[in-house]
Amino acid sequence: MRQTALLQILADGKYHSGDRLGKALGISRAAVCKIIHQIEQQTGLDIYAVKGKGYCLSAPLQLLDKQQILEQVSARVKQRLQGMELFASIDSTNRYLNEKLRQGTEAPWLVMAESQLSGQGRRGRQWVSPFACNIYLSLLWRFACGPAQLGCLSLLVAMAVVKTLRKNAIAASVKWPNDIFVNDKKIAGILLEMRGEADGPSLVVIGIGINVAMQMARQKDIEKIDQLWTDVASVTGKSLDRNQLTAELLDALFELLEQLPEQQKVLLQHWQTLDMLYGENVEVCYADRTITGKAMGITEQGALKVHHRDREILCYSGDVSIRRQNKHE
Ligand code: BTN
Repeated sequence: MRQTALLQILADGKYHSGDRLGKALGISRAAVCKIIHQIEQQTGLDIYAVKGKGYCLSAPLQLLDKQQILEQVSARVKQRLQGMELFASIDSTNRYLNEKLRQGTEAPWLVMAESQLSGQGRRGRQWVSPFACNIYLSLLWRFACGPAQLGCLSLLVAMAVVKTLRKNAIAASVKWPNDIFVNDKKIAGILLEMRGEADGPSLVVIGIGINVAMQMARQKDIEKIDQLWTDVASVTGKSLDRNQLTAELLDALFELLEQLPEQQKVLLQHWQTLDMLYGENVEVCYADRTITGKAMGITEQGALKVHHRDREILCYSGDVSIRRQNKHE
């Protein structure tokens, strides 16, 4: 709590004396010094300490702010959202929300974090989540129907993320089933965890990570990313306001989720306009075999259609990559 309060004061990038910081937080100067060290260790931020001037961040910081987000979301989001939590640091927003769900929390419920110590990615990967660089959020949603009626949910969520990025002049597309790419590099990822009775209801934790401004991250964190990646700042040349982007994302998600499952097929019809794989030669890898062919969009059930010679193969799972043809092949 005190760490967050202190960071909020330092976020302007200006010098603040230990004395003034102590008074603002109701603690001693020695306690301020201790908290500053803790912040540096936990977040990787550089905080200068200069005699006679005080403490100052190496660069101004824009922190996530619940109030600012709520001021920017649509009335329907504000009305429906049952709860919203923001952590400076957490192991994983998905894990936390799953735990809350077991304890019987209301839905929709939103959890955001400035950093994640064990951010979860798909296929057991880690989602590298450095402090105050990106968006890490999980939204709990309750559907009256059973999971079988929500087979395309993860594809549709990916479409909502892409639309939000495109609204901000970022030429993102979806790589089936739900990876979000710009210029062949991953900019956002989705981890969906669903549970429910066959006849309903279904409860879904929708986890979304968007790389916004990775240049603030520590090199040692960046080195942990084991795939090609990009971020909003590199693509647009500027750093977008994360509070605004979060608000826009929530608007897009609520608009989508409120139409499901009834409108699933209709919404999926727009897939092709956001599809990164359409017409590309692809390789779909399974544990025991690999399928190659031309990606030709998806079925109504969300399966990837791959044309191989005269046959159409439907892929319901698997890891897809584009085969960039070598000139000499
Ligand atoms: C992927 O591998 O593409 C999925 C990445 C999902 C990352 C997000 S960040 C917020 C939420 N909490 C997690 O632990 N993971 C998801």
